[in-house]
Amino acid sequence: MIYRKAVFKDAEMIHKIINDYANQGLMLPRSRNSIYESLRDMIVAEENGEVVGTGSLHLIWDELAEVRALAISPQAVKRGIGETIVKRLLTEASELGVKTVFTLTYQTGFFAKLGFVEVPKDDLPQKVWKECINCPKFPNCDEVAMILRI
Ligand SMILES: CC(C)(COP(=O)(O)OP(=O)(O)OC[C@H]1O[C@@H](n2cnc3c(N)ncnc32)[C@H](O)[C@@H]1OP(=O)(O)O)[C@@H](O)C(=O)NCCC(=O)NCCS
Repeated sequence: MIYRKAVFKDAEMIHKIINDYANQGLMLPRSRNSIYESLRDMIVAEENGEVVGTGSLHLIWDELAEVRALAISPQAVKRGIGETIVKRLLTEASELGVKTVFTLTYQTGFFAKLGFVEVPKDDLPQKVWKECINCPKFPNCDEVAMILRI
């Protein structure tokens, strides 16, 4: 398994993995535009020349970052790839001086194993919600906010 920064040739596979889950209501959809714009935030797991997982670290505010767009291909789940991707994003966050990482997720058990704890959404600064206006669920967000202090 190769873990590396995402590049343009990964965009279509990232788009497919995320939106196949989004079509099942398991995560939020992503447009190609948003994938291109956040490509520098993303890392991928590559196996036999195929992208089998992705996740991104998005800087939000002073010492605050979000883990988002985490998705592992159905055929590659439960092999530690999701955990490895999040840990690599946390290392990047730490190197940048981030002190708090949060995520908005339905996968609370997965993130709890990595040390994230549930918090009321109101605990997150208002800046977090800036991009939510583009979400199809806005303003009825049903994701759970979880944070990790690093
Ligand atoms: C959630 C997801 C990212 C997990 O990735 P994964 O590669 O299968 O997870 P890992 O194999 O790294 O699992 C790490 C640990 O978390 C556990 N785990 C994984 N998903 C879990 C869940 N939903 N609830 C509780 N524990 C979970 C695993 O059992 C494993 O524990 P172990 O080390 O004790 O065996 C993946 O299933 C996925 O892409 N799901 C659909 C998209 C999605 O929901 N993304 C999250 C959006 S925020």
